[in-house]
Amino acid sequence: MKVVKKIKALRELIKAARRRDKTIGFVPTMGALHEGHISLIERCVKGSDFVVVSIFVNPTQFGPKEDLAKYPRPIRKDLQICKKHGVDIVFAPDVKEMYQTGGITWVNVDKLSEHLCGRFRPGHFRGVATVCAKLFNIVAPNIACFGQKDAQQAVVIKRMVADLNFPLKIVVCPTVRAADGLALSSRNQYLSPQQRKDATRIYHSLQAARKMIKAGVTNPKTITAQMRKIVSRAESLTAIDYISIVEDSTLQDLHRITGSVLIAVAARFGSTRLIDNVIVDAPKQ
Ligand code: PAJ
Repeated sequence: MKVVKKIKALRELIKAARRRDKTIGFVPTMGALHEGHISLIERCVKGSDFVVVSIFVNPTQFGPKEDLAKYPRPIRKDLQICKKHGVDIVFAPDVKEMYQTGGITWVNVDKLSEHLCGRFRPGHFRGVATVCAKLFNIVAPNIACFGQKDAQQAVVIKRMVADLNFPLKIVVCPTVRAADGLALSSRNQYLSPQQRKDATRIYHSLQAARKMIKAGVTNPKTITAQMRKIVSRAESLTAIDYISIVEDSTLQDLHRITGSVLIAVAARFGSTRLIDNVIVDAPKQ
């Protein structure tokens, strides 16, 4: 496994792999790798010949009051994980290398970026779409794997790839959870024991919603009210940013539940913001 910090060196290695007729798989990450990231790496190893993982804590997707400075950066452990799982190249540029030209060009995926997390993290999806566009241009992969855990991000990136004609396939992989249901996240390590315990309420609320939909409830308000009750009982809860039931590709709010729906939650425990979601196929009415 090679660790590369420079764009030029990465391009040369990828060109050499292409000359050997290898297909390229790509997993963009911000590091602090866990089983969720590993599942994307495994999917890429299975679906391509040559796997590139990027580790880059992208400053342009963090708001001024967010956790950029304290975001975990356990690079040695991350490299061990990548090596163990068959990654060919880890691309770990510094901020200067990624934004050497000053970065005044942005990719805005309108509409889709405005819903859900977009309302609470202005500029976040602009930063994500821009860095992914840059990474796709640098790596030129055949496939890139993303997690369903960040549902809105996956929808935004898929749409950017379609709108800007990137010649690659986005593969969205299922959310990997801890035994008690909490979705794995690099941010879980910020949680105190009480907050960690409370955070499972997000998962419980999503399971309750799934049950209600399967039982035929069609009014989203009935379901979100019940979910709100479940999450609100958490002692360490500081805020519920949203509990929403939306159409899974447009992210538009639904007034009546039908078809494939995305149920998404963002809530804060102490100062840690967690997100999770499930997709449920509602019974046809
Ligand atoms: P990061 O949070 O490191 O996540 C990298 C990828 O891992 C994303 O596609 C995310 O959805 C996926 N992932 C995280 N937790 C997961 C889980 N529990 N199960 C399955 N997949 C999971 O998302 C980002 O980084 C950044 O925004 C990035 C795309 C790298 C752009 O900077």
